[in-house]
Amino acid sequence: IFLHISVCLGEDYDLDDKTGLGRSFDGIGGLSGGGATSRLLVNYAEPYRSQILDYLFRPQFGASLQILKVEIGGDAQTTDGTEPSHMHYEDDENYFRGYEWWLMREAKKRNPNITLIGLPWAFPGWVGNGGNWPYSFPDITASYVVSWILGAKQYHDLDIDYVGIWNERSFNSKYIKLLRYTLDKRGLERVKIIASDNLWEPITSVVFADKDLQDAVEILGVHYPGTNTVPKALKTGKKLWSSEDYSTFNDNVGGGCWARILNQNYVNGKMTATISWNLVSSYYDDLPFGRDGLMTANEPWSGNYVVESPIWITAHTTQFTEPGWMYLQTVGHFTHSGSYVALTDERGNLTIITETMTHDHSVCIRPPLLPYNVTAQNVTFHLKGTFASISELQVWHSKFDFKSNKTVLFQNLRPVKVIEGSFSIELDVDEVYTFTTVRNGHRGNYPDPPPSAPFPKSYKDDFDVSGNPYFSEAPNFADQTGVFEYFTNLTDPGPHNSTLRQVVTQRPVTWVADADQTISVIGDYKWHDLMVSCDIYMEAVHTGGVFVAVRVDKGGGVIRSTRGIFFWVYADGTYKVTNDLRGMTVLAEGLSGTRARVWYTLTLTVKGNYASADLNGYPLWKNAVLWEPRHGWVAIGTSSFELAQFDNFAIEALA
Ligand code: GAL
Repeated sequence: IFLHISVCLGEDYDLDDKTGLGRSFDGIGGLSGGGATSRLLVNYAEPYRSQILDYLFRPQFGASLQILKVEIGGDAQTTDGTEPSHMHYEDDENYFRGYEWWLMREAKKRNPNITLIGLPWAFPGWVGNGGNWPYSFPDITASYVVSWILGAKQYHDLDIDYVGIWNERSFNSKYIKLLRYTLDKRGLERVKIIASDNLWEPITSVVFADKDLQDAVEILGVHYPGTNTVPKALKTGKKLWSSEDYSTFNDNVGGGCWARILNQNYVNGKMTATISWNLVSSYYDDLPFGRDGLMTANEPWSGNYVVESPIWITAHTTQFTEPGWMYLQTVGHFTHSGSYVALTDERGNLTIITETMTHDHSVCIRPPLLPYNVTAQNVTFHLKGTFASISELQVWHSKFDFKSNKTVLFQNLRPVKVIEGSFSIELDVDEVYTFTTVRNGHRGNYPDPPPSAPFPKSYKDDFDVSGNPYFSEAPNFADQTGVFEYFTNLTDPGPHNSTLRQVVTQRPVTWVADADQTISVIGDYKWHDLMVSCDIYMEAVHTGGVFVAVRVDKGGGVIRSTRGIFFWVYADGTYKVTNDLRGMTVLAEGLSGTRARVWYTLTLTVKGNYASADLNGYPLWKNAVLWEPRHGWVAIGTSSFELAQFDNFAIEALA
């Protein structure tokens, strides 16, 4: 009987600033990179590309993100591909590679107050002086990273607000202090350091014990904290951030995960910023962690994109707060599970966000989520202190419905009257509410984009980009080891004046196990029977080697073990057909007469269990017998970290 009554009458929760406020809110963000997660976004035609950016960044429209974190490209594989460095070589500097500059500019255009963060996953080989370690010459690493920040300002007028150390890898106290010193010396006192983008320990203890490091580090940033912190981290007095989180498939369970952690990262862990890996799933679905972004936009060829639930879950907080608002101390869990946070601008505004996500509908990719039980409940909020005089709150509502198709996302309901400082609400499970004095929330909307379509079966690229292309990469190529860039042959006015060139000549300081070969994939992972042709030009005399491939079955961190049908020609006058990128399984080999610094046309045709190839239009080998893999991407690449060029790339897919 008692239970019954308490459910009917509900529980009471005070929202009060009389005894002071909680921590300062720093924002909700998305992470582009770590790696190549925005690769396909840049090739969307207008107006779709701008629409996607609006859903992500435009204030009072969609996710209205408050933070954009990007990878500082290091020429190495960092999950879904490589991102180019601003310094491929020691004597090289170029601040127009890749798409992160462009993305930051687009974000700033929409929200001039957005917080910008840069973090390296990997470094060009020269930074480690040939070793696979960025701390042997910390002064080189620090000046390399600081160059990126200076370049952002000089070439794009972008003020980077925070910089990190080495994503989910070791940190080094000496390096962190040197980075701080180098920033200050270059006039970048305003750029603050986040450490160490990994677990709470050992960074917390090391910061705790080292006064100089305490001064150098502004934020303790952890990844996938499962909404919890450790007592020592609280004792450091530092701001605590979940500087990478989420990485969950972006269906409604992903939305539930996001709703739960956005609230509970503060309620349980006192974390004042949460950043989603990743910002937008703009990489081929069959690369690792497909669709682990706030929304999906990986069909530039069709224009189709999907605004997934995490976008609207983000809006519940971001559209009604700003970085610098304060959490109230009175935040917490509901009696029957679920949580609530409340924030204020200290000028009378109040935003309350509740979530009642059930366990099974809010599991994130990591860490494991312990069982708990949440039930429908009636809650009454009592607004006290500064908030006692509020008479009405705007209401925004989301409800995930996993039984039928009645999910509602970010719906504006009738305002709730606050009577004598109190209002009650019946909370069902799997719901998110925002109650707020902020009146300008808005559910942005564009007409439906074009329908989803597979990658075109007939595809050509001659890499002839007139003038100075804004993007250094050719559309739809997703580099998995090495970096492939547009290149102008200044000395060759002929047909191969504009090409695509592999430019990484030394193994980078890697984040995962890059291949020993370079490779860029493109197309439809389901393709099995097709013809690919490409003009190729080896630059490495004697040692050069180049391939075209089909049915390439893996990308990302497992790129070393990729299989497929690889047709190689070498500068030593030979060719090979192999079943894998490593070249362990040789299906055919022989003489080709190929050498460096000559253009050749390679054509590879695969049908059923047979493959054949032409060199300059003449059959070179045929009827190589294949069993596995049955399907996969098309790819081009080189046999080592070497310069090589590609031109007149063409695919005719049969199936
Ligand atoms: C993180 C990493 C990201 C991405 C993600 C996938 O640990 O920092 O780059 O790999 O995992 O879940």
